[in-house]
Amino acid sequence: MEQGGTLEAIQQTIRQAATLDELKEIRNQWVGRKGRITEQMKELSRLAPDLRRERGAELNAWRESVLAALTRREEELVDLEERRALVHERLDLTIPGRRPEVGLLHPLTRVRRRIEDVFLRLGFSLAYGPQVESEWYNFEALNIPPDHPARDMQDSFFVDVPGLVLRTHTSPVQIRSMQRHQGKLPVKIIAPGLTYRRDDDATHVPMFQQVEGLVVDEGISLADLTGTLTVMAQELFGDGVDTRFRSSYFPFTEPSVEMDVTCAVCRGAGCRVCKETGWVEILGSGVVHPVVLENGGYDPSIVTGFAFGMGIERIAMRIFGLDDLRLLYQNDVRYLDTFQSGEGDGPGDFKSSLA
Ligand code: PHE
Repeated sequence: MEQGGTLEAIQQTIRQAATLDELKEIRNQWVGRKGRITEQMKELSRLAPDLRRERGAELNAWRESVLAALTRREEELVDLEERRALVHERLDLTIPGRRPEVGLLHPLTRVRRRIEDVFLRLGFSLAYGPQVESEWYNFEALNIPPDHPARDMQDSFFVDVPGLVLRTHTSPVQIRSMQRHQGKLPVKIIAPGLTYRRDDDATHVPMFQQVEGLVVDEGISLADLTGTLTVMAQELFGDGVDTRFRSSYFPFTEPSVEMDVTCAVCRGAGCRVCKETGWVEILGSGVVHPVVLENGGYDPSIVTGFAFGMGIERIAMRIFGLDDLRLLYQNDVRYLDTFQSGEGDGPGDFKSSLA
């Protein structure tokens, strides 16, 4: 072959081709449609018959051996590539799997639902009211007159519309529920929801959650209140918990009592968390004031009731033994994940989280 060197030289280039692409180029160069050997075969017709036969045989032999060399090298390269792939794409089946991230409900949501569960089992139903509330529902209807010190005590957030506040407690839902019942008996509701006060420290955040409770019927007494709330405390915190009621004051209940439960940290012995008293306050409550019953459309000479209100955060702090409430609202997943350990959503697990 004129400008191509010997057959031996061609075969050598083929054997040295490093990739299938390179090999393809060599194939085109020699035996492709415009390859050198192909071109020369096209020229054969121009030669004298004798010469044509001799040259034809020679070209055919070249072509055959180039094709054979190409096939051989192709097989080698495919094989090489497969082996390289085996090394690179090796799967280590002994590597431990990646654990899927399991989402869980926010601790405060779980506490709220747990409280709801307890009261739903006791025959209460759920009630809701607006977070932007009228001053009438938030204060006046609850027997808190405009100049009452309780309004300062509760440091309200007011909105631009006169007469409206961000509700400072869930107690306005007492009035709304009684109105919705239109005199029917019994009224037996709990009202979970967001509430707002100008407070901000380790144990108070400006937006927090309460669960209100209200029972109105004939012959309801303080004993129904203490009985119901003691059952609730045992359901929430376990049978080992003790409760006590201390007299207190709220404009919308008379008499008013606050309920304490034994401190989860020291179990009543006295520690930093309970300020050495052995008790932690968890709710305010009392016998519904006659004025409040009237504002709800009920006749206080016929019916009586009890009401209570508790902060969900306070209860969560007790259950989980927290001393800074704000962490629960920063929603750092790394922190919230720490509530996952040993804390299922079942009542048993929930109680055992006190241990
Ligand atoms: N609303 C009161 C508070 O926010 C709690 C309460 C509710 C007290 C119902 C008595 C009866 O502190």
